[in-house]
Amino acid sequence: MTKILILYYSMYGHIESLAKAVAEGARGVANTEVTLKRVPELMSEEAARKAGAKVDQAAPLANVDELSGYDAIIFGTPTRFGNMCAQMRNFLDQTGRLWQEGGLIGKVGSVFTSTATQHGGQETTITSFHTTLLHHGMVIVGVPYSCVQIGNMGEISGGSPYGAGTLAGGDGHRQPSENELTIARFQGAHVADVARKLSA
Ligand SMILES: Cc1cc2nc3c(=O)[nH]c(=O)nc-3n(C[C@H](O)[C@H](O)[C@H](O)COP(=O)(O)O)c2cc1C
Repeated sequence: MTKILILYYSMYGHIESLAKAVAEGARGVANTEVTLKRVPELMSEEAARKAGAKVDQAAPLANVDELSGYDAIIFGTPTRFGNMCAQMRNFLDQTGRLWQEGGLIGKVGSVFTSTATQHGGQETTITSFHTTLLHHGMVIVGVPYSCVQIGNMGEISGGSPYGAGTLAGGDGHRQPSENELTIARFQGAHVADVARKLSA
């Protein structure tokens, strides 16, 4: 079995929806075992509720010690000022020992994201995230142009060769479109396929 972890943080649920689509895509690849987990929240529950955060997310919390047990990790983070969110950064900053041990060397790493606006930093969030994955020795996988939805000029859409993405809107009202969900499913399937070949 190829073991895939989808590891995410989502404040308002957009990344959570994309994560489920990524998982669906990965599960479609034969002999793949998919696990969906979150990184811990850093805000107090009171502050999260006040900010309107989605506090009913069912995915269990991950811990850094389990990461080396997967063949691929697909990370999902909302954009914060063009970068990954603090919750994800904080989690990754606890992987020093894992880095020292080379626990992720040669494993597949991939990233998807969400922004409020069309040009709010999807590409910078994903490519700056890649720096951390490369320090860990991971093999970066994105979304190739054989996924025709990333070239869709008929509508506004998140998603790029760097990874799936959705546009939440300034007030978070917009939900992932079918085009964006298709890209997310493609990313899950593509990562699972590459990981299967690498771990064979
Ligand atoms: C502190 C903060 C910084 C943000 N920075 C950006 C940004 O740089 N660009 C952008 O388009 N959206 C930005 N957003 C909006 C979030 O990216 C958006 O709420 C998120 O993608 C929604 O995903 P979620 O529902 O999974 O939390 C920011 C939100 C917060 C709270």
